[in-house]
Amino acid sequence: VNKKISIAIDGPAAAGKSTVAKIIAQKLSYIYVDTGAMYRSLTWKALREGVELENPDKLFELLKKTDITLVNEANKQKVLVDGIDVTEDIRKPDVTRNVSIVSKHESVRNEMVRRQQELGKNGGVVMDGRDIGTHVMPGAEVKIFLLASVDERAIRRHRENIEKGIESDLEQIKKEIAERDKLDTERKIAPLKKADDAIEIDTTSLSVKEVADKILAIVHERIG
Ligand code: CDP
Ligand code: CDP
Repeated sequence: VNKKISIAIDGPAAAGKSTVAKIIAQKLSYIYVDTGAMYRSLTWKALREGVELENPDKLFELLKKTDITLVNEANKQKVLVDGIDVTEDIRKPDVTRNVSIVSKHESVRNEMVRRQQELGKNGGVVMDGRDIGTHVMPGAEVKIFLLASVDERAIRRHRENIEKGIESDLEQIKKEIAERDKLDTERKIAPLKKADDAIEIDTTSLSVKEVADKILAIVHERIG
């Protein structure tokens, strides 16, 4: 039996992290942990309850009493906040626009990291986010940093919206992705950054399958 390792996948918005992380988790029968969904869940609840997003104490208090459950189903992942299915709602523009404000606070991050480490403690996990290789699982056996040009990433999100029948403005998406990249990269606590020992993959001109195959090859090399 192969050893169950930990796989960290980081990178900016729409680089393809969650798409390939899910494929890899399924191929290896590992659990998939979408840490962005956790920050989005807290943002969703804070907006709903009118909690001031610039107030770390209030947000931390809110997080302490909020249950966030990531449900791994066959090929779909569900996100529950206090038992409510928020899978779709946490991808909506109001959450997307505000999540990088919520995620910059140290107390919020510490509690999220604690929960993420608990989920990953037994290995057999593919976790994606911004600080997984640098802070959440610094000991992960495989660390991947996914990149793509901002133009390509905006086109990907635009295409997703069109497929879902959601109104979509490519220039607006591009602007919002660039803003979120800036906030996530420049924040003080655990900014988006490639871990020194992470393998960088530029996915700009690669298909989902090509990226997943590259990562699976790296994983198989590690687990023998
Ligand atoms: O899917 P997308 O790339 O749009 O974003 P996400 O992975 O759902 O993450 C949403 C936001 O949560 C990011 O823009 C970060 O502000 C924050 N985040 C973070 O700070 N640390 C993580 N490990 C994951 C997400
Ligand atoms: O999780 P992250 O925000 O990094 O990206 P995602 O939610 O997986 O979204 C990436 C989108 O780009 C999906 O619609 C994928 O089908 C598409 N895509 C990709 O993920 N990787 C490629 N190499 C090409 C396209």
